[in-house]
Amino acid sequence: MKVQGNTILITGGTSGIGRGLAEAFHKLGNKVIIAGRRQALLDEIIAANPGMEGIQLDVQDSAAVTKFTETVAKKYPDLNCLINNAGITKIENWKKGDVDINDVSGIIQTNITSVIQLTLALLPLLKKHKNATVITTTSGLAFVPLVVAPTYSATKAFLHSWLQSIRSQLDGAVEILELAPPYVQTEFGGKEQAEDPRAMPLNEYVEEVIALLKVNDTPNGEVLVERVRDFRQCVTTDQYDKTFSMINSMFQLV
Ligand SMILES: NC(=O)c1ccc[n+]([C@@H]2O[C@H](COP(=O)([O-])OP(=O)(O)OC[C@H]3O[C@@H](n4cnc5c(N)ncnc54)[C@H](OP(=O)(O)O)[C@@H]3O)[C@@H](O)[C@H]2O)c1
Repeated sequence: MKVQGNTILITGGTSGIGRGLAEAFHKLGNKVIIAGRRQALLDEIIAANPGMEGIQLDVQDSAAVTKFTETVAKKYPDLNCLINNAGITKIENWKKGDVDINDVSGIIQTNITSVIQLTLALLPLLKKHKNATVITTTSGLAFVPLVVAPTYSATKAFLHSWLQSIRSQLDGAVEILELAPPYVQTEFGGKEQAEDPRAMPLNEYVEEVIALLKVNDTPNGEVLVERVRDFRQCVTTDQYDKTFSMINSMFQLV
């Protein structure tokens, strides 16, 4: 992907990785549009980054997603890059039966269904442009599940599989990239995650991602910073069990 001269739409642009990428791409001179539910954050971020735009969107509302894609197509005919980044997670205790089907559906709708809906609706517009790219945020947990978050981990594994298929079908007409972050200091799993020393600092993560994109270091369409490569590689080596135990000893049910 070229990292300049794009018109980029980023879902989940109000915080964490999405906000970090939005601001980095904005600094590089791209036209950036962020989407998320929290209007106050959209306002704050666009005020801090003149030229950036924001649109409120709840990706769990599929009618709203349809309307949103129509608005985006009309307002931003130059859109050539979609970053599917919004995501949620939830701890599930299957032993205690502490699992709410509504939470499970919400994770699937947010992490999978809305990604497919947005991509499907915006592909015709993206395809009109040279250098069209779709980046979808998965996770190191797409390769090795976190036992305490079964649905979340499985949604990311789903995306990893789905991305391989659509990448192959589109055959370069649109570049399909998978962004698989390691554990990063955001508030994704709660406020304490943003300060967890085991997690990668957000600014370092964003810098490394942009550096990889700049030199097209995205083998098989995967954007993998150094910290997540063990997760990716263990799938094809005898290190899988060791990696599974390591990650799952860090996070256990209480
Ligand atoms: N941080 C990590 O350790 C880590 C590791 C691997 C993968 N990831 C992935 O990275 C992505 C970003 O997460 P993050 O770490 O940056 O956490 P975050 O700060 O919590 O960001 C999540 C983003 O998703 C948006 N979002 C959630 N539900 C939404 C909905 N219904 N409609 C619209 N937007 C919604 C949020 O915006 P609003 O609340 O404003 O709607 C927010 O901007 C996620 O896909 C996550 O799975 C994170």
